[in-house]
Amino acid sequence: MTEPIISIRGVSKRFGGVTAIDNISLDIEAGEIFALLGPSGCGKSTLLRMLAGFEHPSDGSVLLDGKDLTRLPPNRRPINMVFQSYAVFPHMTVAKNVAYGLEMERTKRSEIRTRVAQALEQVQLEGLGDRRPDQLSGGQRQRVAVARALIKRPRVLLLDEPLSALDAKLRDAMRLELVKLQEMSGVTFIIVTHDQYEAMALADRIAVLENGCLRQVDTPRSLYNNPVDAFVADFIGNVHTFDVSKIDLVEGRMRVHADILGPLMIDKPIPEGLLPGVQTGRGRVLTIRPESIGIKTGETYVPGHLTVSGTMGDIAFQGQHSVVEIRINNSRSISAIVDDATARELDGLGHETTVHAHWAVADMHLLESSIN
Ligand SMILES: Nc1ncnc2c1ncn2[C@@H]1O[C@H](COP(=O)(O)OP(=O)(O)O)[C@@H](O)[C@H]1O
Ligand SMILES: [Mg+2]
Repeated sequence: MTEPIISIRGVSKRFGGVTAIDNISLDIEAGEIFALLGPSGCGKSTLLRMLAGFEHPSDGSVLLDGKDLTRLPPNRRPINMVFQSYAVFPHMTVAKNVAYGLEMERTKRSEIRTRVAQALEQVQLEGLGDRRPDQLSGGQRQRVAVARALIKRPRVLLLDEPLSALDAKLRDAMRLELVKLQEMSGVTFIIVTHDQYEAMALADRIAVLENGCLRQVDTPRSLYNNPVDAFVADFIGNVHTFDVSKIDLVEGRMRVHADILGPLMIDKPIPEGLLPGVQTGRGRVLTIRPESIGIKTGETYVPGHLTVSGTMGDIAFQGQHSVVEIRINNSRSISAIVDDATARELDGLGHETTVHAHWAVADMHLLESSIN
């Protein structure tokens, strides 16, 4: 394995009584798009600001190419930040905007000119140097903001919620643009977002944070398929959880008792430290994703599947697929994602008709419940 470009080692950050970052260790590889993902207030910006040097860790260190950066001021780090909503100076031309960082450093005029031209070329804005930001599209303005950071030739570009101020349609387009910009520049991108879909669409790898703690780091696909706990499972996609009241062992296999599901034989590795017949104590849950759930109207048996009966609830049409709600009892419903043909069939049944949700027992995960 190559040496990571950024190595975060045992970093904590406390603001008075608040622990914003709690002992995080994390390596980021050169050339990847890495996302820091988590709900608002979990510490993403604080972690990013420590990489930039705007905040200093209370404990731990940050390394770049193996060298300790922790005490270096922001302007001495080969790391640049693109700020939320791509702030550009509206009264300056594109070229002036891009040149700004070098002008502040009193770089020679001729060198500034060359590097502005290079930076504009890097983001495919050649020939637009004389325009003003209001004469550009939203996507072009994004590229100006990125060019402004790239002109400093950073090793790493930090982007804090870069797309959050844009409307949904533009955001989709800008997401693809960002991936292209990263490929063109070859610079490592670290992107903060609270939007799971954005992280999944953009990032090579994602770190999921909760309350200042690192929950899991992996590729989007692995996070989705093998979440370490119910928090990650629910943050990366959606998940239904069923509280486990007891696990016992029957001939070396686990029998899991989970609220409405009843006792189920689960063929998964037995969690470490689990004593047979003992109440689980620490919260565990069985999880299933809505997209793994099928719906049938008759009680036909599907091998390896578990069936939960209920009545038809609402159907939310979403184009290619629909989300169907099945009411299990007064306090509990399950939603399933079905294709359009199935949705139409179910739509004809009307509320209160008895239907059966079913899914493969093997598609469930046995996870620790979220700490919150
Ligand atoms: N300068 C600061 N002073 C005091 N508390 C702060 C400061 N910056 C962040 N925090 C607190 O640290 C926690 C994490 O904040 P932040 O990193 O901004 O979260 P996120 O970017 O994930 O929304 C929050 O509880 C926030 O109130
Ligand atoms: Mg933030």
